[in-house]
Amino acid sequence: MSIWFFVNLFVLVFAIWKISTGYIGVHIIFGGLGLLFVLFNWTRHAVFSTIRSNIRRERKIKYANLSKRVLPFHKWTGSTALALIVVHGLFVWKIGFDLSSWKALSGIAAGVMLFLVVFFGWIRWYRTTVLRRYIHLTLAFCLFALILIHLVL
Ligand code: HEM
Ligand code: HEM
Repeated sequence: MSIWFFVNLFVLVFAIWKISTGYIGVHIIFGGLGLLFVLFNWTRHAVFSTIRSNIRRERKIKYANLSKRVLPFHKWTGSTALALIVVHGLFVWKIGFDLSSWKALSGIAAGVMLFLVVFFGWIRWYRTTVLRRYIHLTLAFCLFALILIHLVL
């Protein structure tokens, strides 16, 4: 199993802990739901890493079949994540935020990155090339890092 499963699980548990120990407003609910959808899609990377790793052939086939079954949902869960995060951002904006706060700045950076991931996802879906695959994957990596920063700050 790829270490990424544990990294993703850790981020999820960390977010749940962070949310449950603070004030839970509507904006936080949307942020948490958006995170859930992003992590669901990002776990595709963990599954792919597992398939490429040195495990038994039968297990590889099992993971590949699982991955194939989830694929039709991937584009919709990703697009839904963007919609949820736009609502999260709008609620935060309505409440009022300090543009000099790292929380807001990292959030905006993660939001822009999520938009790019989804945008290049659709471009990749329209027609896959090696470059498009790398752009989608690299942006998704950056998104993961920015979200982590956004949660920690
Ligand atoms: C992929 C994008 C994003 C994800 C997954 C996300 C997720 C979250 C989560 C789970 C929280 C609650 C936990 C915590 O306080 O650490 C939160 C808080 C916050 N987010 Fe985001 N967010 C994203 C984008 C944004 C954007 C675009 C903004 C725009 C300003 C933003 C601003 C904030 C602020 C200011 C808080 C703190 C709110 C408070 O403590 O009352 N985030 N975010
Ligand atoms: C939260 C947003 C998203 C994240 C984190 C994400 C992440 C990923 C990851 C990690 C992979 C596997 C990367 C690889 O090794 O090639 C992938 C594949 C893919 N993504 Fe996304 N994605 C998101 C949204 C989207 C959207 C909105 C679309 C729109 C159609 C899309 C289309 C694709 C396609 C076509 C593949 C290749 C499918 C496959 O062969 O398994 N993605 N994505």
